[in-house]
Amino acid sequence: MCGIVGYIGSLDSQSPAEILIQGLKRLEYRGYDSAGIALLNKDEIYTCREIGKVKGLEDKWLAAENTVNYQVGIAHTRWATHGKPTEENAHPHRDSSGKIAIVHNGIIENYQSLKKHLVNAGHEFYSETDSEVLAKLIGYHYKGDLLQAVTDALNQVHGTYGLVVACKDEPNKLIAARKGSPIVIGMSDKSSIIASDVSAIVSHTKHVIYLDDDDLAVITPGNVDILDLNHRQVSREVQELDWDTDSTQKDGYEHFMLKEIFEQPEAINNSIRGRYNLSIGNAILSGLSGVDKELASISQIIILGCGTSMHAGMVAEYAIEELAGIPVKVMQAADFRYRNPIVGPNDLVIAISQSGETADTLAAVKEAKQKGAFVIGLCNVVGSSIAREAGRGVYLHAGPEISVASTKAFTCQVSVLLLLALKLGRSRRLSLAQGVEVAQAIKSIPAINQLLLDKQFNHIATIAPAYTQAHSMFFLGRGYLYPVALEGALKLKEISYIHAEGYHAAELKHGPIALLEEGTPIVALLNDIEGKDKMLGNVEECKARGARILGIITEGDTQAAEICDDVIEIPSSHKLSTVLSTTIALQLFSYQVAKLKGCEIDQPRNLAKSVTVE
Ligand code: G6P
Repeated sequence: MCGIVGYIGSLDSQSPAEILIQGLKRLEYRGYDSAGIALLNKDEIYTCREIGKVKGLEDKWLAAENTVNYQVGIAHTRWATHGKPTEENAHPHRDSSGKIAIVHNGIIENYQSLKKHLVNAGHEFYSETDSEVLAKLIGYHYKGDLLQAVTDALNQVHGTYGLVVACKDEPNKLIAARKGSPIVIGMSDKSSIIASDVSAIVSHTKHVIYLDDDDLAVITPGNVDILDLNHRQVSREVQELDWDTDSTQKDGYEHFMLKEIFEQPEAINNSIRGRYNLSIGNAILSGLSGVDKELASISQIIILGCGTSMHAGMVAEYAIEELAGIPVKVMQAADFRYRNPIVGPNDLVIAISQSGETADTLAAVKEAKQKGAFVIGLCNVVGSSIAREAGRGVYLHAGPEISVASTKAFTCQVSVLLLLALKLGRSRRLSLAQGVEVAQAIKSIPAINQLLLDKQFNHIATIAPAYTQAHSMFFLGRGYLYPVALEGALKLKEISYIHAEGYHAAELKHGPIALLEEGTPIVALLNDIEGKDKMLGNVEECKARGARILGIITEGDTQAAEICDDVIEIPSSHKLSTVLSTTIALQLFSYQVAKLKGCEIDQPRNLAKSVTVE
């Protein structure tokens, strides 16, 4: 949550302000309540802050017509935790002397007691934020050595931080620190750029260093020294990014979400390429090589995640139980973490996270490891905290996902989880022929999805207008399509603000049916796979109470089509592939409804792409 950028150096082509604002735009999906920038040289710190999106900040900065030559700067886009999204609460925050400015992600848990202490020492506060307390605390400790002041302050702090600090008296350096909130440093010849994720860095350099928890970094143009909190040198590997700049642009699409929906066939291809073998009917996951013995001895699987990633885990629950016969439990990561979970050495814990930074999932991984479970991570962002904490796992290779509402990450997560289910199945109860069938189904996913996109995009645009006025919508599914119903409802509420709930269709009669009125829209997942007959009956029950039915049906299924008011046809395919094409149809439906309603599709209100606070 929140985006941080810091820059030090000299790039002839761009000023630090341009670089920082451009970086903030790339990070805006992490939070967009307010934005701010601080630029400095040895004479002054110039700050500019604005409520709302980065564009507002950019306009304000340009209107200021500031022509001073700065070489250092820090910037922030905020998702409010402590205090409303006002200009006073916007970062960067300053210490009492006005010499020091900071940008901070995370939460300072003991900020109230620290604030009391600082107030007693004569400091005055202008904001309600915990971050201002940290800025003032660094200032309190500053006696001409910024690194020491930051270290002293951090030694008093409980909580989490991704932090970049600048000081007018030491304008040739930035100090960064990390605990629980990511910091990446990009290195090039004459400059260094620091950010909370690589999207802000990738257009400048491909060489990055990820800080670990409790690392401090002293950053000068093109150089970084990394220390622990006792100022002992530590070494962190320089990694090379494989993302290109194009993958963080809209490429002519109106929204990132639409681009990412259309990218799915290619993204899934990248996720599964080289990871299945048709002749042996098995999956080859190099991230799990050498651990067959451990996998053979597991008696239970616990899948952890939040939001869309948790829904992907729920699809995997069906697949793993069916293919491998291993009991699977899917748990919301925070729920797992706070319930003293029953988990131990014979359990496989799979942590799913697109960003690899979700605070609850990260904490749950630590808890599972501590209890001796065999933990693997399923992340998209290479080098992310969850990937590193898990220590082993499988990357999605879906490319950057910028839209706050997740689309391609879900379908890539499910595709990789199907490979894992195949691998576990083949080592337990699947025959060669069955393994080949599943491998073929996985192989077919990208092509089936492409077919769906080609055939249904325009059609979905024509049916969406009938649903824009809905107050509430219900998504019903059974079996593998139950989590798809949950994900479809989540997508609609996230981007169109229409109240939407997903239910197992059998649950309808146990309460939700009381909510149906004349015209209430129901999205019924009526695909021709197990459960369809029962679904047809459930739809009739809804119709009898006046509901309007949007059926997601298998192409050419006239029996299902007849009972629906509108239909979206899904190409006929293996059920494992159907799960994904049905999801994509629902993504397109939500997109079209939100677009007609004029919603901010890529950056829905109150949401952030990566939830790095509890
Ligand atoms: C946020 C995002 C969701 C995402 C969830 C989990 O709520 O808005 O799109 O599914 O976090 O994120 P993760 O990065 O762990 O998959």
